[in-house]
Amino acid sequence: MKEITQDLLNSFRSPAFPGSFFLSFEGIEGAGKSTQIIRLKTHLENKNFRVLVLREPGGTPFGEKMRQAILETKTEITPLAEAHLFAASRAQLLSEVVLKELAVPNTVIICDRYIDSSLVYQGHSRGLGVAEVLNIHNAFPLNLVPHLTFYLRIGVETSEKRQKMRNAPKDYFEAKGVEFYKKLVVGYDLVAELFPNRILKLDAEVNLDEMTMRITEVVDNLISHSRSDDTTNDEM
Ligand SMILES: Nc1ncnc2c1ncn2[C@@H]1O[C@H](COP(=O)(O)OP(=O)(O)O)[C@@H](O)[C@H]1O
Ligand SMILES: [Mg+2]
Repeated sequence: MKEITQDLLNSFRSPAFPGSFFLSFEGIEGAGKSTQIIRLKTHLENKNFRVLVLREPGGTPFGEKMRQAILETKTEITPLAEAHLFAASRAQLLSEVVLKELAVPNTVIICDRYIDSSLVYQGHSRGLGVAEVLNIHNAFPLNLVPHLTFYLRIGVETSEKRQKMRNAPKDYFEAKGVEFYKKLVVGYDLVAELFPNRILKLDAEVNLDEMTMRITEVVDNLISHSRSDDTTNDEM
């Protein structure tokens, strides 16, 4: 298996567009990603940001077609094929949407799952190797990562409980069972350690409002710090 070197990790950077932010949410099914994203969107819109929520895979006409194909397939896709499919959708999303929209000042792009999902699902859980998936992404613009990633951490029991509450039909991933979910949690913990400056691991077993408070506090801090950095640069 390939090695994860510091050089490889260092090749992943956030895009530099003054006044705009790129965020992502990660975590297993039921962690609260969709719910918190809607709340964060409202919070940021009230602060006069233009907010775009994107989902992965998807977010472009090509990506949405691929999403359907992946989620509805009745036959097994190999982990390598799966990793490349997700990366293809992501490359299209970056060029077609993310880079263009972030260039508009005061924009926040929030991704419901991003690169870390590939690292965890295909890299760790399906056994392709995290290094292999990082290598697939080691070319511009796939090596652009969010400024900040919220990893909403819950255990498998909570995931099951919340999925039952939601009552949605089981899809490709959800049908995989408890052992698969346990492996995902371990994978997320590992990946969070690889990117300690970007990935913020939050205990998402807490209630919805407490979760929202923690997230908005961190985002508000990120925004005010970047504004004070801009002022410092202006003075130089
Ligand atoms: N912190 C929480 N406490 C209790 N229920 C929650 C919490 N976060 C989410 N839920 C509920 O769990 C279900 C799944 O949440 P959702 O936001 O769709 O998760 P995800 O998008 O991560 O799969 C929803 O019914 C939601 O209301
Ligand atoms: Mg969701």
